[in-house]
Amino acid sequence: MTTPSFRFYNPVKIISGDNALDSLGYELKQLGAKRPLIITDQGVAEAGLIALVYEALAGTEIPDDVLYDRVPADSSPQVVDQAAGVFREHDCDCIVSVGGGSVIDTAKAVNIVVTEGADSLAEMKGVKLRKHMRPFIVIPTTSGTGSEVTYAAMIMNAEKKQKLLFASYLLFPNTAILDPRMTVSMPPLVTAATAMDAMTHAIEACICKPRNPFSNAHSIEAIKLISNYLPKVLKNPDDREARFYLANAACLAGAAFSNSGVGLVHALGHALGGVCQVPHGAAMNLMLPCGLEFNLPAVDKIIGELLLPLVGPERYVETPAGGRPQKTIAILREIQNELYKSAKLPRTLTEAGVKKEAFDEIARKAVKDPALIFNPLSVGYEDALDILNKAYN
Ligand SMILES: [Fe+2]
Repeated sequence: MTTPSFRFYNPVKIISGDNALDSLGYELKQLGAKRPLIITDQGVAEAGLIALVYEALAGTEIPDDVLYDRVPADSSPQVVDQAAGVFREHDCDCIVSVGGGSVIDTAKAVNIVVTEGADSLAEMKGVKLRKHMRPFIVIPTTSGTGSEVTYAAMIMNAEKKQKLLFASYLLFPNTAILDPRMTVSMPPLVTAATAMDAMTHAIEACICKPRNPFSNAHSIEAIKLISNYLPKVLKNPDDREARFYLANAACLAGAAFSNSGVGLVHALGHALGGVCQVPHGAAMNLMLPCGLEFNLPAVDKIIGELLLPLVGPERYVETPAGGRPQKTIAILREIQNELYKSAKLPRTLTEAGVKKEAFDEIARKAVKDPALIFNPLSVGYEDALDILNKAYN
């Protein structure tokens, strides 16, 4: 047998904890940055979170007067170009992004445009990045995407129905600041959906082909933290300790999947988002058990071992080894039921408003999704249709 080989890389400095945001000025200074462009969206600004950023920078030498707060839920090349224009207009030299996945991806793309001196993001399509990016700090306001520790950015060009995907180690943020104050106002549905996105990152990173001991360690801890702390956050949204652990879990899962990939559940989720606008986290939650069932023949042992971080040692040893893979899937269905009760997160495609007539298009899209490259088993059109039918109701 040949020894498996792998690479694991994550250079992002993590600053995590109560009041972690207070170190923003110091961290920017450490990076040699003097004038940040703060990138965010209206929701984050209206929730008072940018006020916390201003508070953190007050009394430091770093100015806080350049803000771009118009990132929409689905960003676009036009938004990136606009924000890059603001960066140039004010002679900024670094980026601070405050938000969820769309804001962070936008900030990564703005960094490409301003670093490379491009007139527009479209110009950068297919260009190999070579320059070291401008200093870049990410402050997530959701606990799900893990984008604060990943090296890819995806911007959709809706007009041309074209995805602009950039992936380069140069895109890693320098620093991620995880401060529970930034996630505490997230509503239950968003909390649950984003946490299940992180759960899916962690689980798929464990079962996909590039899995390795380093990504497994990150994933297992993430699964344990989400299982323990998501119910606590939903019970008491102001529980900062539980918010802290959820933010760390999402970050750990991000580091795992950026090294080990995601698979079938993401392929189906991307297609569900594209065809029926099912939000990403909701799609992850409702497809996860069926996706694992499909992959059982190839990775049943691994799926069985995931029972331990999901339920803890006592319930794990109570379950005979042979029954653990099915039990893992059953526990994920229990979680779905709990999240439906507490946050109205859909458990089925019916509850998500997806009609059977859309299945053909979803399945055709899913089988072409690049995430399938890493999936343990190959997935054909009929397989995808079958999985969609199983997740229907
Ligand atoms: Fe995801």
